Amino acid sequence: MRCKQCKEKAVLFMPAHRLALCKGHYPSWFRKQVQRAIDRFRMIRPGERVLVAVSGGKDSGALWHALHHLGYETEGLYMHLGIRIEGYSDQSYEAVCRLAEKLGRPLHVVDFQEELGMGIDEVRGATNRPPCSACGLSKRYHMNQAARRLGFSVIATGHNLDDEAVTLLNNVLAWNTEFMVRQAPVLPEDEGFVRKVKPLIFLEEKQTTVYALVEGVPFERDECPFSVGSTNLHLKDVMYRLEAHSPGTKRRFVEGFFQWRAQWLDKALKTKPDLRACAVCGYPTTAEVCAYCRLKAQIQRHLTIVS
Ligand code: AMP
Ligand code: FES
Ligand code: ZN
Ligand code: ZN
Repeated sequence: MRCKQCKEKAVLFMPAHRLALCKGHYPSWFRKQVQRAIDRFRMIRPGERVLVAVSGGKDSGALWHALHHLGYETEGLYMHLGIRIEGYSDQSYEAVCRLAEKLGRPLHVVDFQEELGMGIDEVRGATNRPPCSACGLSKRYHMNQAARRLGFSVIATGHNLDDEAVTLLNNVLAWNTEFMVRQAPVLPEDEGFVRKVKPLIFLEEKQTTVYALVEGVPFERDECPFSVGSTNLHLKDVMYRLEAHSPGTKRRFVEGFFQWRAQWLDKALKTKPDLRACAVCGYPTTAEVCAYCRLKAQIQRHLTIVS
């Protein structure tokens, strides 16, 4: 396959776009897609500093690199989850540090061992919760807290089209409409919550991988050890097969949802839950004490019993 622009050997053929590009022309095409999503959904205001949540994986790494090269003033946020299995968290941290150095940008770190009193891999023993649910909850909490503490009004995450399609499929299969309301390219700022944006929303995982490889973005190749055998991985495979059979399926699925959501949201927002400040930490919550503080209290009780 040859590059559409210069006839050099292509690094990637994208059937949904009917486009093949070489390693010289691909990165600028990718960054243009990122910029297009930012403009279309008004993700970032002119001159706004952006906190990029970087996990050490290819998507958030590609995102930080692309935003930096598009001229945005960015800083990184890494949450060290304390997952020791296969050295996962330490290796991800190392990749993020190398990227921060390559871009010459500051990196902020939140350490779960310090914050929670234990790493995510010990949480099941202490609370009986699946690690991924405690992890997701704690990541959302600390992302928001860190952004507020550091004075950022926007956080960018590396969710790609495959992530969105799988999350949507999962939510549709369970008719989880509450989660669907919160699935959007932009979660606007709200009392106590910083705006969250997903500039890679229409880029496929393969596209972010090729960008990271061509641009020499350091990333950790291993997936989180807790994701092995998860429903999401299974649904990813289902989506992959649908896409292979009919290129553009993922995009139509997600794009159609966002259009429908935009019309439907007005109604949904009328039933928005009443938020109040968590009695322990002040984070916005519908309960007396927020879910994160309840998780932390459970961990503290466990630590007191075992010590
Ligand atoms: P995930 O929920 O693991 O699919 O990750 C989705 C996005 O959340 C990533 O693309 C990152 O932007 C962010 N993220 C996930 N894990 C971390 C982490 N340990 N530190 C910072 N950001 C993260
Ligand atoms: Fe949190 Fe896997 S990344 S449990
Ligand atoms: Zn070319
Ligand atoms: Zn709280």
